[in-house]
Amino acid sequence: MYYICSVVEPVVIMNKTISIKGSCEIYVGRVESVLPRVLPRRRVVVITDANIDRLYPDLVHRFDYIVIGHGEASKTLMTVQRVYKRLIELGADRSTFLLGIGGGIVTDVTGFVAATYMRGLDFGFISTTLLGQVDASVGGKNGVNVNDYKNMVGTFTQPCFVISDVEMLRSLPKRELRAGMAEVIKAAVIADRELFEYLEKQPVETFIDNPETMCNIVWSCVGIKADIVERDEREGGVRRLLNLGHTMAHAIEKCAHEINHGEAVAMGMAMICDAAVRHGVLQAEDRDRICALLTRFGFTLLPPVPTARLLREVRKDKKRQQNDIHAVLPTGIGSCSVVKMPMEEFESMFG
Ligand SMILES: NC(=O)c1ccc[n+]([C@@H]2O[C@H](COP(=O)([O-])OP(=O)(O)OC[C@H]3O[C@@H](n4cnc5c(N)ncnc54)[C@H](O)[C@@H]3O)[C@@H](O)[C@H]2O)c1
Repeated sequence: MYYICSVVEPVVIMNKTISIKGSCEIYVGRVESVLPRVLPRRRVVVITDANIDRLYPDLVHRFDYIVIGHGEASKTLMTVQRVYKRLIELGADRSTFLLGIGGGIVTDVTGFVAATYMRGLDFGFISTTLLGQVDASVGGKNGVNVNDYKNMVGTFTQPCFVISDVEMLRSLPKRELRAGMAEVIKAAVIADRELFEYLEKQPVETFIDNPETMCNIVWSCVGIKADIVERDEREGGVRRLLNLGHTMAHAIEKCAHEINHGEAVAMGMAMICDAAVRHGVLQAEDRDRICALLTRFGFTLLPPVPTARLLREVRKDKKRQQNDIHAVLPTGIGSCSVVKMPMEEFESMFG
């Protein structure tokens, strides 16, 4: 017995590049039932990491495959170049289809390689982490890091499909599962009060064992992100909302490598909630509820480095435009706004 929405209606992102690339279909369902329907009948090369290769050999080894390293340190142009070389050795050409199977590191690298190898190959994802299913695999952003600066080089290119099979989350280490919950809570704070209240009621220890709950969570978050991406694929406006907590999170990741993306996002969200209260746009009561939910899911909210150091890193953030920054401020549970402000004003919000 699996879960209620074995294969549900795809969310179709009608992105702006539709006339060139077509649309991206996102499925929350079993890989085995969705993959044969969506995989084109052409040569497929899988890009994955060693954990997925070890845990899901039957899925990976039915195609030619390339294994990349783990973690942010592998999300680099060096890895990309290694993949290009391997693709050349395998004789991959423009008709080859790239299938990224893994979490956000694998899907970011796969998307970037696919967008650039021979000026672009078609590609799809099987997203295997909660963070990937609710966020990283959705929306067509594919970036790699340069000198520890996150996602400095990248493209906006939509995959042909994303398959999110919540059964694959059962093998995910608890810490990684929790990291995904940071992006789930982020999505709820941005746009879905109902989801937030649903999460407040979830029994934290056992929700992973309930596929129906996981399906609902993934499905809600995909819906939120797909709606935003449809309106603003290239992050000129409303898509900036998805960066809630991320300005500080990227600085935390830069300064403290032992902290993963989701953990940094949780800290960044707590910091920006505090700042929003100080700025007079968020009620202290809502801040407390958001922080309580993050704490309930096991997050530490205090960053391991002083705020002043993080703000120095923010000054180097790629999203900064000259002296201005687009701050994403929570204004309630289920609502946020983007405020363009000078860097000095942003800094002053952190006390
Ligand atoms: N492109 C975007 O829009 C976007 C959005 C959010 C985050 N991201 C990026 O995503 C990355 C983080 O992604 P992540 O949290 O998925 O990390 P990840 O890809 O490093 O995966 C986390 C760990 O879990 C392992 N793993 C993956 N699936 C597994 C499974 N089913 N069972 C057991 N182990 C499994 C991986 O091997 C890895 O060790 C960051 O680089 C972040 O910048 C991108």
